[in-house]
Amino acid sequence: LAKIEIKLGEIPEGKSVTFKWRGKPLFIRHRTAEEIATEQGVNVSSLRDPQHDNDRVKKPEWLVILGVCTHLGCVPIANAGDFGGYYCPCHGSHYDASGRIRKGPAPLNLEVPYYEFPDDTTLVVG
Ligand code: FES
Repeated sequence: LAKIEIKLGEIPEGKSVTFKWRGKPLFIRHRTAEEIATEQGVNVSSLRDPQHDNDRVKKPEWLVILGVCTHLGCVPIANAGDFGGYYCPCHGSHYDASGRIRKGPAPLNLEVPYYEFPDDTTLVVG
């Protein structure tokens, strides 16, 4: 399937849910107000792969990323690591709740796929 449709009401605030899309894990995270504030406040110039949170999300509450570590492709674990986002156990890469690489060997942020919100309760990726 080229596209995947996700009902946002099924993902509680604070949770990151994994879907399968085009053979890869897809993480949808319903971010809390605290997570949003933290990620928006990060000094972009301190980042290895500098990207503002606003350039990675279309709606602040929803983070949509591929669950493929940019080091060697393992699947990171949600709500783990030192930056409140994701942790890749293969070689110890830490990602924040914007999916940005913060520590460890991975060179790049977790990839944001193309997606849109056709209405307030639906997300379509692809
Ligand atoms: Fe994730 Fe190496 S594959 S840290």
